[in-house]
Amino acid sequence: MTQKKSTKIEKASRTGFCFGVRQAIDLLEKVARERGGIETLGAVVHNQQVLQKLAEIGVKVVDNIDDIKGDAVVTSSHGVSPDLEASIRARHYEVISTTCPNVQRAQAAAEKLADSGFFVIVYGDRDHPEVKGILGWVKGKGLATTEEAVVAALDPLPRRLGILSQTTQVPAHFAGFVKKIIDLALTKNSEIHIIDTICHDLRERQAATLELAHRADLMLVVGGRSSANTNRIAELCSRITETHLIETAADIKSDWLKDKKHIGVTSGASTAEDTVDEVITRLEKMTRP
Ligand code: F3S
Repeated sequence: MTQKKSTKIEKASRTGFCFGVRQAIDLLEKVARERGGIETLGAVVHNQQVLQKLAEIGVKVVDNIDDIKGDAVVTSSHGVSPDLEASIRARHYEVISTTCPNVQRAQAAAEKLADSGFFVIVYGDRDHPEVKGILGWVKGKGLATTEEAVVAALDPLPRRLGILSQTTQVPAHFAGFVKKIIDLALTKNSEIHIIDTICHDLRERQAATLELAHRADLMLVVGGRSSANTNRIAELCSRITETHLIETAADIKSDWLKDKKHIGVTSGASTAEDTVDEVITRLEKMTRP
């Protein structure tokens, strides 16, 4: 009789909260405890498990300014536009910001480019709160897209273009986009100013995850289905090996584990380390020979 070999389960070297999410949650927990509860404008992070835990200490998500009941509101790690912040203050609510310092840098870069006369292109998902926030800093002098065709359709094409990225985009994809814009727009007397605003923490996580994906025959990416960076990591891994995005250990399907020798586990930047560890524990149980 042949002995069934045990499956190797390996956690990526960088999982759990990134420093920006850690900082946002620490501040939010402190404020909620001191005040006996607090409201946040939109989800402070895109992760249901984290939001449930925060709800237990009195953190309530409101979808728009009209729904704020208290005298203060917390804005998310993704940041907000200056107009939105001004309209909250105009109603005399205190604004407690948990905007990640990397997002603040992207906002400042966008504002500086617009103030210097550049038309600003934000490489990113135009419906994402971070991108909407960054775009708010250019005061109408820019757009957000991941499609070069959207820029090509500008008539006239602005002579001075500033390009930066949503912090969670894939560096190689941003570089590819920039090359296309250079081909398209660099003509006589034109000027293109590129600023790298991609998050370095995320860059390192992606590199560590992809290195693991090359060695594994299955990757599980733990994180919120609405989390941009979690989806991006899952998409990158799926180009290398079989990959599934799961929110919790309960989502693991035994079919996926059949004949697998090496399972890699990684997470999005807004996933708690506890959730990743619960996935590892369940995997160990499910793959025990
Ligand atoms: Fe900030 Fe990067 Fe995290 S931009 S919120 S440290 S993924």
